Amino acid sequence: MAPQHPWWQTAVVYQVYIRSFADGNGDGIGDIRGLRARVGYLGALGVDAIWINPWYPSPMADAGYDVADYRDIEPAYGTLTEAQDLIDAAHAVGIRVILDIVPNHTSDRHAWFEAALAGDPAARDRYHVRPGRGANGELPPNDWQSVFGGPAWTRITDGPLQGQWYLHLFAPGQPDLNWENPEVRAEFEDILAFWFDRGVDGFRIDVAHGLVKAEGLPDGAQADAPQAMLQVEAQHPAWDQDGVHDIYRGWRSVAQRYTPERIFIAEAWVSSNERLARYLRPDELHTAFQFDFLRSPWRAANLRGVIDDAITSAASVGAPPTWVLSNHDVTRTVTRFSRSQPDHLVETDWERGRWSGEEPDHELGRRRARAAALVQLALPGTAYVYQGEELGLEEIEDLPDDVRQDPTWAQSGFTDVGRDGCRIPLPWNESEPTYGFADGPDAVTWLPQPGHWAEHSVEAQERDPDSMLHLYRAALKLRPSLWRDAGEVTWLDVAAEVAAFDRGGAQCWVNTGTADVTLPAGASVVLASSPGVDGVLPGDTAVWLQT
Ligand code: NOJ
Repeated sequence: MAPQHPWWQTAVVYQVYIRSFADGNGDGIGDIRGLRARVGYLGALGVDAIWINPWYPSPMADAGYDVADYRDIEPAYGTLTEAQDLIDAAHAVGIRVILDIVPNHTSDRHAWFEAALAGDPAARDRYHVRPGRGANGELPPNDWQSVFGGPAWTRITDGPLQGQWYLHLFAPGQPDLNWENPEVRAEFEDILAFWFDRGVDGFRIDVAHGLVKAEGLPDGAQADAPQAMLQVEAQHPAWDQDGVHDIYRGWRSVAQRYTPERIFIAEAWVSSNERLARYLRPDELHTAFQFDFLRSPWRAANLRGVIDDAITSAASVGAPPTWVLSNHDVTRTVTRFSRSQPDHLVETDWERGRWSGEEPDHELGRRRARAAALVQLALPGTAYVYQGEELGLEEIEDLPDDVRQDPTWAQSGFTDVGRDGCRIPLPWNESEPTYGFADGPDAVTWLPQPGHWAEHSVEAQERDPDSMLHLYRAALKLRPSLWRDAGEVTWLDVAAEVAAFDRGGAQCWVNTGTADVTLPAGASVVLASSPGVDGVLPGDTAVWLQT
């Protein structure tokens, strides 16, 4: 069934965290060869596109978000030839390929930053290098904090720039670029074209709201510090500055040189959906992640609120709404829903669930995650599925401290365990040691997998018709005919703990409470998140109906 809209307006995009997807050479690290071998799995799952997290050469100070060369492939992941083969193989089964571009910062091992440190003034001007404050310049140039903890400035200890400070809103290995410099702008437009020429269909833009800083880099003390990625409540001179929009007008022109037009997805943590919509004006970016859906607790009233807000604000600029339940930066959905639910949108720290001390009930979380998936996939617009969501994987919260890799752990002074728990290598089959993630008996995965993941492996779920994997496959198969081009969301008048909407005769009902709810007489159940739904919708369950 041919879609009535450009593909990106209604697509289901599967996020491939390449380091943890599948390992094709037995070194315990996911790679392009492993991904290439699983294109068939993705085709059978029924996704329209994949978004691959950064796969460029990187010292891995932040899992590849510290890019040393934007026009090549990280050796641990493969080669440019393999990348081309992957792009072609995905296209051959109708899957589009979206890459991740990281324009806010480079690696400190990028040739530009190395030249800057070596004293090249032209290179230095591509970054934010400043003298410090205090009698001897011993204090950072302003009060900005790194998202990962600690000051956003590092003092250069030797070489021609000794004693100066450079800005890094993330890890010290991620110096921020100076986007006032025209060479930076020209370079990135060229990088986009490099990949578009290879058939890449679009880019997810990392930290899209960060590129331009307020002139003079003023202190931001009165505004919220740019700490947690989800906690952007107010304007801060490091984020969401008006000048950033001009960059994206230039990028849109690059995308428009291609047929079909290439597309952009903004990762922008801004203070409201209204601010986000400004990135989606007709001559700017195509879509943006709207993250409130993943901040919603498991409560019908909150879900209704975030859904309405996302739809209305995207429509105000003619963009499709987007739905994200999780990604590589936040706690996995199953775990987020496995503890008591607050009555407000959640923040990062709560999401990781570590501070409450409450034990997670993963079976409950999994039941809710199944229901949430049916809500997500029934909504208009685009949906993102983070690898492992289709397997119902939970967050691994008890990793030993000495295996943690996320820079957040060290930069927070070992108080924030960071994001490793949602980045564990996938279980493909039931055989240990790596559940089929890596070939070879001696393989050791880059993060350890838990001892009980055989039961969540693809192989185990293939056998079980009621598994999460089969639920996702069924939902993705039905979505084009039932929902993809259906009309607007019309809310139905239902009990407080239920959210139910109609789109052109098809209905989605979700019960976030515990009491059974009677379904409309005469409606037929097309798909239910838990087995055995008939006439009555139990708690923590969603259903698709045909009326
Ligand atoms: C957002 C990415 O999703 C995250 O993983 C990364 O650490 C930061 N941007 C910095 O690049």
